[in-house]
Amino acid sequence: MIQTRIGMGLVGPGFIAQHHIDAVRRLGDVDIIGLAGSSSASARRKAADFKVPEAFASCEELVNDPRIHVVHNTTPSYLHVPVTLAALQAGKHVISDKPLAMTPADCALLCDAAAAADVVNAVTFNYRGNPLVQEARARIARGDLGPLVNIEGQYLQDWMTGENVYSWRMDPVKGGVSSALADIGSHWCDLAEHIAGARIVSVLADIHTVVATRYTSGSSSEAFGTPGSGSRIPVAIHGEDLAAILLRFENGARGSLRVGQVLPGHKNDLQIELNGRHGSIRWEQERQNELWLGFHDRPNAILLKDPSLLTPEAAAYARLPGGHQESWADAFRNVIADIYDCVRDRSARPATLCTFTDAYRTSTIVDAMLQSAAAGSRWTAIPLHHNVEHGAAS
Ligand SMILES: NC(=O)c1ccc[n+]([C@@H]2O[C@H](COP(=O)([O-])OP(=O)(O)OC[C@H]3O[C@@H](n4cnc5c(N)ncnc54)[C@H](O)[C@@H]3O)[C@@H](O)[C@H]2O)c1
Repeated sequence: MIQTRIGMGLVGPGFIAQHHIDAVRRLGDVDIIGLAGSSSASARRKAADFKVPEAFASCEELVNDPRIHVVHNTTPSYLHVPVTLAALQAGKHVISDKPLAMTPADCALLCDAAAAADVVNAVTFNYRGNPLVQEARARIARGDLGPLVNIEGQYLQDWMTGENVYSWRMDPVKGGVSSALADIGSHWCDLAEHIAGARIVSVLADIHTVVATRYTSGSSSEAFGTPGSGSRIPVAIHGEDLAAILLRFENGARGSLRVGQVLPGHKNDLQIELNGRHGSIRWEQERQNELWLGFHDRPNAILLKDPSLLTPEAAAYARLPGGHQESWADAFRNVIADIYDCVRDRSARPATLCTFTDAYRTSTIVDAMLQSAAAGSRWTAIPLHHNVEHGAAS
């Protein structure tokens, strides 16, 4: 059925929620009905901050409101399962931020629940929405690079460098056993498979916790809150904040990935390079309007983001003419727009759509990395799972 106006509600009004709401506002045919937070008071405060019309007293009230067709789940990771399940059981389409859930088993549970509800289900691996990411993907799909032999990159940050940085993200009960790999390594793995059109089949991981003791003031804080002042309560940290991974892809390509969140000077330093037998491509998130093209038999080149120079499927993701910089928020909006296209037309299969099944796969990759490290850095295969039953990853 093709709907005209669509109602959305959001549960978990923190950092990333604002970007979900901004993206939805840019679509023009989606009504933001309201949001639910950790309490009625918090929902009221956030609804006022985000200029959202209604504050719901609870998640249950929100997901059962008949005006709401799509539920965005932007809660801390430990709440992804109950909030997503409640929305699915109410028959709502669900857009969850990553990770889908904290373990592969919980991801499988949500994949089954989404299949049973027969609704649109998507996870916001937002880097897929960048026009030059789509350009890289299109060039590789049409064989410009020849067979891929090497896929490498990194996602490095520094915001966790200080030992007073502590939030739910570093608590294994609320953020999951894996820290940096689940949080940002997952973005890279999704992007690598999406651009390459090939799956990671095995991994060898070396992981480390650089900051093994963090300090909290004891008050709960949002993920990127300012470190608390006052009393300093030490907390032992077990999740990795530094990792180096070797990768093997199904097409025979080798790869490597570095992930870290305590590396001074690196803000959101996400980079990916793909080398084929005939050419190479590199995309850097912090210079996201440029695509590096490497050759062995002619000069290298930089392709600037300019819709008139891009392949048509990538140009469709550019919102501005060349010379005007597109940004993280534009790519995020592109991903949200693609998901809402699926809500309007269930037969749509837009390029950037990451389904629950795809996100489940990413969770098994992160899990295999942890298993590899725990086994003394052994090659560890990624298990085949729901992809077989529910169709291939995009
Ligand atoms: N796609 C991305 O690049 C990206 C970036 C940041 C975060 N994320 C993901 O988004 C999720 C949220 O992260 P964040 O950084 O926005 O965290 P955050 O701490 O800033 O926000 C979480 C919000 O959920 C609220 N909340 C807590 N308990 C709740 C409950 N029981 N019911 C409803 N709301 C509740 C909190 O009060 C807070 O407002 C995480 O799973 C994270 O991995 C994704």
